[in-house]
Amino acid sequence: MLQGKKILLGITGSIAAYKAATLTRLLIKEGAEVKIVMTNAAKEFVTPLSLSTLSKQPVLTDLSENDSWANHVMLGRWADIMLIAPASCNTIAKMAGGICDNLLLAVYLSATCPVAIAPAMDEDMWLHSTTRNNLKKISDAGNLLIPVGNGELASGLIGEGRMAEPEDILKWLNLFFSDSQPLHGKNALVTAGPTFEAIDPVRFIGNHSSGKMGVAIAEELANRGANVTLVLGPTNISVKQGIQVLSVTTAAEMYEACDLIFPTCHIAVMCAAVADYTPVQVADQKIKKKEEPITVSLTPTRDILKSLGQKKKLGQVLVGFALETQNEKENAIKKLTSKNADLIVLNSLNDKGAGFGYDTNKITIFDKAGGELNFDTRPKKELAKEIVNSIIHTLHAQI
Ligand code: C5P
Repeated sequence: MLQGKKILLGITGSIAAYKAATLTRLLIKEGAEVKIVMTNAAKEFVTPLSLSTLSKQPVLTDLSENDSWANHVMLGRWADIMLIAPASCNTIAKMAGGICDNLLLAVYLSATCPVAIAPAMDEDMWLHSTTRNNLKKISDAGNLLIPVGNGELASGLIGEGRMAEPEDILKWLNLFFSDSQPLHGKNALVTAGPTFEAIDPVRFIGNHSSGKMGVAIAEELANRGANVTLVLGPTNISVKQGIQVLSVTTAAEMYEACDLIFPTCHIAVMCAAVADYTPVQVADQKIKKKEEPITVSLTPTRDILKSLGQKKKLGQVLVGFALETQNEKENAIKKLTSKNADLIVLNSLNDKGAGFGYDTNKITIFDKAGGELNFDTRPKKELAKEIVNSIIHTLHAQI
């Protein structure tokens, strides 16, 4: 289960830090890729040299080193999970308070992947009301807690607060990936962004799509274990590592890419704002300005969603989007049948904060059985989770 998984191991200052070396060794043996970020305090307990040798990667501590900046944002985007083991009382308090005074905390605060912590401290600290409150705060924020063990502590006392043994952390990770990755082994195709249809060498017909919704869906599918290919129109949005991105410009190129990939996919989400028309002719040279009006003749593009709907086989879930300005619900439901889609996600331009360029959206998901799920205006990343939940539900219903 850990083969190829990208694990960002954060190590903080605790006597249990010596176990991070064993943990790294076990993770590498399981086929995981491990990158390590450690605090300065952690270096007192285990050396970066041991850890870089075991992980086969340089160990990072500082926000900048040798005049180069450690890209904390990309580290959190690279990882499938960030695991802080051991997580000291001090680091837990800083996480709860949003303090960002070292690289590890900067990575934590910018991580888009799930974060798990394996606390380690003496029992009195573990049971202190401040620690309890801090742990509640960070688990309420969606972070995962690996249970502590009971036994001999650094103080010589016996009690609760020992970091989970590396073998138990490994078991926890295996369980995490099998539970949280229901799409493990599934192939997904997502289209996102606009398409540009050339009029002449310098001009095109395009649209305002930013690609944010489609990229959020692609990333969420990948978070749940799917192998994702993203066919992306012209946009400069960044995409989490681990997703195969095929950049295209025109509707015709997007069609070709999707047509090629779809037969091997279990899931296809057509989120792109594909041009419905393209110029009949593309002028070889820049069209010169004249006094009189000009006409550009347009011809319809091929409807990718519809074409995939015609080729769809049992076991494939096809999702389309609908952006309507009138009779929204009626048109969205019609699209389910006319395009042979399993789900249609309606997003409305009539709602504030929804649609092009925004980080938020307001959607309704329609399914073939007549089901309708309405959501309030929410961040696109959150809505991507809801869309992926519906996809998983539809996939299971087919099997
Ligand atoms: O029919 P309409 O274009 O409104 O449907 C929108 C849906 O169809 C979206 O999912 C969009 O990605 C997809 N589409 C497509 N190919 C086109 C036009 C739209 O896949 N040429």
